[in-house]
Amino acid sequence: MKKYSLLFVSFLLSSLFVSAQVKVVNLLCENKPDPIGIDELKPRLSWQLEGPGKNISQTAYEVRVAVRSEDLTRGNQLTWSSGKIPTDQSVQISYGGSALKSDTKYYWQVRVWDNNLKISEWSTPATWQMGLLQPSDWKAKWITQGFAEDTINRPSPLLRKQFALSKKILSATAYITSHGLYEAHINNQRVGDAYLTPGWTNYNKRLQYQVYDVTNMVTAGTNAIGVSLGSGWFRGNLAWGGTKNIYGKELALLFQLIVRYTDGTAENILSDESWKSTYGPIVSSEIYHGEVYDARAEKKGWITAGFNDSEWKPVRVIDLPKNTLIATWNEPIRKHEQFKPVKIFRTPAGEQVVDFGQNLVGWVQLKVRGTAGDRIRIYHAEVLDKKGNFYTDNLRAAKQQDEYILSGEKEDVLEPHFTFQGFRYIKLENFPGELKAENLTAIALYSDMKPSGTLTTSHPLLNQLQHNIQWGQKGNFLDVPTDCPQRDERLGWTGDAQVFSRTAAYNMNVNNFFAKWLRDVAADQEPNGSVPFVVPNVLGPGAGGSAGWADVATIIPWNMWLAYGDKKILSDQFESMKAWVGFMEKNSTSDLWNKGFHFGDWLFYRPDDDNDGRSAITDKYLIAQCFYAHSTQLVINAAEVLGKDADVHYYTGLLQRIKSAFLKEYVTGSGRLVSSSQTAYVLALQFDMLPLEMRAQAAERLVKNIENYNNHLTTGFLGTPYLCHVLTRFGYSDVAYKLLLQETYPSWLYPVKMGATTIWERWDGQKPDSTFQTPNMNSFNHYAYGAIGDWMYRVVAGIDTDSSAVGYKKIIIHPHIGGGLTEVKASLNTYYGMIRSEWSVQGDGINLVVEIPANTTAKIYMGVKKNQQVTVNGKLMDAPVQGDFGPVDVGSGRYNFLIRTK
Ligand code: BGC
Repeated sequence: MKKYSLLFVSFLLSSLFVSAQVKVVNLLCENKPDPIGIDELKPRLSWQLEGPGKNISQTAYEVRVAVRSEDLTRGNQLTWSSGKIPTDQSVQISYGGSALKSDTKYYWQVRVWDNNLKISEWSTPATWQMGLLQPSDWKAKWITQGFAEDTINRPSPLLRKQFALSKKILSATAYITSHGLYEAHINNQRVGDAYLTPGWTNYNKRLQYQVYDVTNMVTAGTNAIGVSLGSGWFRGNLAWGGTKNIYGKELALLFQLIVRYTDGTAENILSDESWKSTYGPIVSSEIYHGEVYDARAEKKGWITAGFNDSEWKPVRVIDLPKNTLIATWNEPIRKHEQFKPVKIFRTPAGEQVVDFGQNLVGWVQLKVRGTAGDRIRIYHAEVLDKKGNFYTDNLRAAKQQDEYILSGEKEDVLEPHFTFQGFRYIKLENFPGELKAENLTAIALYSDMKPSGTLTTSHPLLNQLQHNIQWGQKGNFLDVPTDCPQRDERLGWTGDAQVFSRTAAYNMNVNNFFAKWLRDVAADQEPNGSVPFVVPNVLGPGAGGSAGWADVATIIPWNMWLAYGDKKILSDQFESMKAWVGFMEKNSTSDLWNKGFHFGDWLFYRPDDDNDGRSAITDKYLIAQCFYAHSTQLVINAAEVLGKDADVHYYTGLLQRIKSAFLKEYVTGSGRLVSSSQTAYVLALQFDMLPLEMRAQAAERLVKNIENYNNHLTTGFLGTPYLCHVLTRFGYSDVAYKLLLQETYPSWLYPVKMGATTIWERWDGQKPDSTFQTPNMNSFNHYAYGAIGDWMYRVVAGIDTDSSAVGYKKIIIHPHIGGGLTEVKASLNTYYGMIRSEWSVQGDGINLVVEIPANTTAKIYMGVKKNQQVTVNGKLMDAPVQGDFGPVDVGSGRYNFLIRTK
């Protein structure tokens, strides 16, 4: 193998580009631009380098931080002046200055020295604002409605406060949280653009508050605050059997508005006994069942000063803890794409149905004029049945219905507040007059993670698959990663989340999303280390400990480390990771973990007429042993990163014993596994359960098995994510491509051929004859099988991080040309900037365009063979005298390789 070095390529290109001044851009604090409400005492700062030309890297940085922006340039009164720090690190640098204060905004900027030792300008200042750091910083009191509740419908209470501000306002910041969900308004304007706040956590242990800059909403003079509350996840129906009130019975609000005046004084407007309460237009609302809204009951002008609330009842102050309050780490749920009807029609059953063309999660906004008391009902469904009728059997007990009672006075623009639905189709009842497209807009709601990956190919079905994977993510990342968004479930199923997590990190920046949820995982982990099936755990103690589900505790922290280089996730989660391995260890006999309940390779292929015993059942304890080993390996990896040598030593010994026990129990002398399924071989190979000399034959058995099924996969939730990776690793990318491009059931493209716009829960949610699988469990928006996305980005397009410098500080570009594809274009926006890998097959050659962001390096593997010619940016590269081209090392920049294959 001949290696081409960075120096070689820089030399080659140095004549083409003149290095110019580097700029520092895209400043982030705790991975967010200008965040407000940080409770991290040493927030981490990141930035990007930008400049023309190639091979840009950082050799040192200097950061300065101040409370007033003018102090930055003056260079005095700095809370942190880092001085020149020689390092190439530009991502997640911990604040190192004096102690940060509650409710205080900080300005910061950075400059860097590049590899030519040139200093950049100071960056444009960015900011972050601290939250309330101590429970005692909360001066507000918890309040609830002051009248007896209608405990049947549980309508949404409205809480109101009027107040006067006398001086010139400098800034106003609102800190809000609730038991239940809240929507807050000041002077008739909605506070913020977040929905379903305060999000979902185990509220008894961790309750997120949100922070809003409301400076532009308050005025000198009289002001009004109005907040409505809904049951939400706090006390609404969750899980099965009508379970309610999981976290409590009573809705409550905590609201603290801090107003600072230009004269240096400040004033607090607080939730307390001075607030008033009544019922409003939301007659009932439930996450699963939808909302009933009576526009006639709107309280006109209730969020404006001067409204007469004399009929309203004083609120009740209640005693609730404040030591569980935490700032919001992840991005809130916001409104995203909007869809207009693509078809309005009558079904054979005579129903008035609207098709929005995309299975999405959110709600429908209705614009309508009618008579007072008109009652319009909207039902939601993901699919139409074989006959083309509206199909809701798969929603089980979830009603997914919104009902609007019209005011009759005006055109009503109506949408729900404290619920969401999973749907592509809606059915309307009692719409007054002719229904037109302009009456309806479907709005997608999901956590506001920034999109990071794109992937398109020359294969239209594959592009639709990628689209479906991304929409599976959009529909199921609502503050927690859920299994599905429509039936009476919508829970944070841990197995689903772990199998999809690496794909998720390609599609969008999920760093903060998972950092938050992993804390939820640790918070709900049982004292014996067992990890619940769902997090937040609404199924109760004991519902946990399943192999492949509970391993979420080790797998996602590690995946986030790889994708974002986020060491804090590893250190925050390390005890939780160890506790989970400890649970398996305690429940093992002679290092064999073969006890307890396991979901196994959930939803694997099982044909009804499997007389030859070819069905793809994998022994559940074989699976458990593989994940036991994998989690132990990940604890070793994390311990290495964190420098915990004693742990490395201990778990390395344990891992050896786990693998020996596996060999003894599940592998014959000639290397056959007790379960001859694809998943068994995939897991054994992926997790290195077999000694080196046994691996090639195991991979052959896997390939044989796939051939036996006529090039179809048979894997369930646990085998699927690794299937193509294992094939590639052992030299069978061609087989992996056959599986990827297989169009008949079971395969990824079968649902696509059936018209899917999201990933289905089952390989055959809808059968070739258009009938459905059992309604008991048949979601059409379940991201788990979308885990193939990771292979598409990492292997087909070939964008990966080098494990020696994770988070794409060192990049691997290793595309695998195949499957008859003629073009693949992928990009990934990382903390350093944009990576691109685009290949196309052109006549006698392959064109590969690669873009590498500043302050990173890459190894590019092109799979070029002896005697083939390579040019880079038009210049011929030195052909190797013997052997294949090895990887080419490059620095930042854009490279166009042309490989002559003939
Ligand atoms: C969920 C799954 C979950 C499973 C447990 C189902 O009801 O929808 O996605 O992982 O239960 O096996």
